[in-house]
Amino acid sequence: MQITVDLSRLLSELETLASFSDAPAPAVTRVVFSPQDLAARAYLRKLFSEAALDLRTDAVGNTFARWTGADPSLAPVATGSHTDAVPHAGQYDGTVGVLGGLEAIHALQRSGFRPRRSIELLVFTSEEPTRFGIGCLGSRMLSGTLSPENARLLKDGEGKSLEEILRQAALDGSLDVGSLENVRLAKDYYHAFVELHIEQGPLLERKGIPVGIVTAIAAPAALRVTIEGAGGHAGAVLMPGRHDAFLAAAEIALAVEAAAKATRSVDSVATTGVCNVFPGGVNSIPSRAVLEIDVRDIDLARRDGMLGAIRSACETVAAKRQVRVEVELINADEPAQASPLITEALTRSSRALGIESMPMVSRAYHDSLFMSRIAPTGMLFIPCRDGVSHRPDEYAAPEDIKRGVQVLASALAQLAQ
Ligand code: GLV
Ligand code: MN
Ligand code: MN
Repeated sequence: MQITVDLSRLLSELETLASFSDAPAPAVTRVVFSPQDLAARAYLRKLFSEAALDLRTDAVGNTFARWTGADPSLAPVATGSHTDAVPHAGQYDGTVGVLGGLEAIHALQRSGFRPRRSIELLVFTSEEPTRFGIGCLGSRMLSGTLSPENARLLKDGEGKSLEEILRQAALDGSLDVGSLENVRLAKDYYHAFVELHIEQGPLLERKGIPVGIVTAIAAPAALRVTIEGAGGHAGAVLMPGRHDAFLAAAEIALAVEAAAKATRSVDSVATTGVCNVFPGGVNSIPSRAVLEIDVRDIDLARRDGMLGAIRSACETVAAKRQVRVEVELINADEPAQASPLITEALTRSSRALGIESMPMVSRAYHDSLFMSRIAPTGMLFIPCRDGVSHRPDEYAAPEDIKRGVQVLASALAQLAQ
């Protein structure tokens, strides 16, 4: 089978998708269910319809585009990723897996291939935690990891509930008005799931190897820490009487860094990526601060050790500064192992195409982390320049994207036969 990738179409689709952004190019900001995200979704639906794929959306806005196989009674093979983008991001994170997945389907269609199993392209809702504080919202719900009841408790930073936001998006045609109860998929719904993604790290580029075959995904966790101190006049309240919420937050953020360094393992990482200070006036003492903290490791016990160290630092700081500190665990997920069904299909495909590959661990999380709970799942990575991601200068070379799509297409073909 001859797999020819229409690289110029794929690159132009990536460019167009990047233009749906709240930040000026080359930066991309596309927060889930923002007007730009809704416009991007409409653009994708148009592309999927042009490819004659059958479209379905569920009640949380996951989008499914199906190429029906010769035997529609068989469990489909699925691929896909996400198209939401963190603030001030680049244009390749997630999008390469969606538009590259679409191009893999085009390439197979052009080759004359007819799949026995249907091949389904998925666009997951809110892989990024920007709006609701929790990542992989769509795949968490698909896999039954996040229940509809708990999803209904989610609110964005402005206090708007997920359901209210979904109702608004449904008016726009971006999703089904159906019930969140119907989002979860059965364990045997898919025969296999494969996600193409940029590496978001430097290893492939450093080794000069064009394809990484993911064997495991590191275990992510997130905390929200709310600190209530005492506000007041920046001139009139003297230093000994202060309970500055931001200074407590700053000490906690340093403790987050210390918790990761204390394990002495390169695999431990912890980040305080959000610090909101209230009321936010230069001449007012901060009365409240909210931190959002991301903690990860490939070793679950070590990851949980870091969470414990951060919680105990919160108690110490609360006592020392006489402030109230509340710690909320947003998520603490287990790592995922890739299925041999997928890693073997990817290895065979790379070999047959003469493309060198290497096994690797994903330090970033992906929707695959949750898809692995309901389907044999695997991922392939392509290099990105200097390992940069979540930045406007994120870049994947056209030739690398092409090779990734070729390997993906070949693996989908094998899995669908
Ligand atoms: C996904 O974007 C992650 O933060 O790993
Ligand atoms: Mn990302
Ligand atoms: Mn991603």
